Amino acid sequence: MRHDAMFFARWLRDPRGMGSVVPSGRTLALAMAEPAARAYKTPILELGGGTGTVTEALFECGLDPHDLIVIERDAQLHRHLELRFPQVRVVRGDAAHAHRLLAELGVDAVGGVVSSLPLLSMPLLARRRILGSAFRSLGADGFLLQFTYGPLSPLPDRMLTTLALRGRVIDRVWRNVPPATVWRYERVPSQSAAVPQPDPLADPSASP
Ligand SMILES: C[S@@+](CC[C@H](N)C(=O)[O-])C[C@H]1O[C@@H](n2cnc3c(N)ncnc32)[C@H](O)[C@@H]1O
Repeated sequence: MRHDAMFFARWLRDPRGMGSVVPSGRTLALAMAEPAARAYKTPILELGGGTGTVTEALFECGLDPHDLIVIERDAQLHRHLELRFPQVRVVRGDAAHAHRLLAELGVDAVGGVVSSLPLLSMPLLARRRILGSAFRSLGADGFLLQFTYGPLSPLPDRMLTTLALRGRVIDRVWRNVPPATVWRYERVPSQSAAVPQPDPLADPSASP
């Protein structure tokens, strides 16, 4: 409840920046955290930590606190996250500068990005910068998870195509107020990588 009150107080000061009146529910937080905590590579980057609902869910799903970096723009929430999760690297800054902020920590790549940013209340240019900066720090098999309350991808197709990215829905969380959809974004495999290679273990009698 204390977290709800703090979240609401920040929302009163900056409704567009917070994007929601209350933190994500536990079911949504776990829907974001589970696939991220299974990533092959670490660290994981969380964008928009808020009061720490998704952060906590990531640890519940097995992520080591040392393998998480959180970027939060709001000064008070940044301080709150630092105090709540002393083992986590919590950076105060704008997600649009994620790549530079990571470099300042000596981190040149992350395995995955988990974002609760209120993308729908941001101009397209801001979304484009955030997406571009996040993918600069992601390797070929990196991914970005993002939830949205809207019916469509919060990152439009044209923006994804320009950056050679693609997105798909991986979860729908009805038990959240409001219900949310979780999207996964990744690089489109390059043409050469996409050419099917003969599988040496394939059953030769199987039809193609
Ligand atoms: C919808 S809240 C999500 C909080 C929490 N992760 C959750 O799911 O309950 C969005 C958070 O993103 C932060 N935020 C908004 N714009 C940001 C930006 N450009 N860079 C970093 N954080 C930002 C807000 O301060 C807020 O804490």
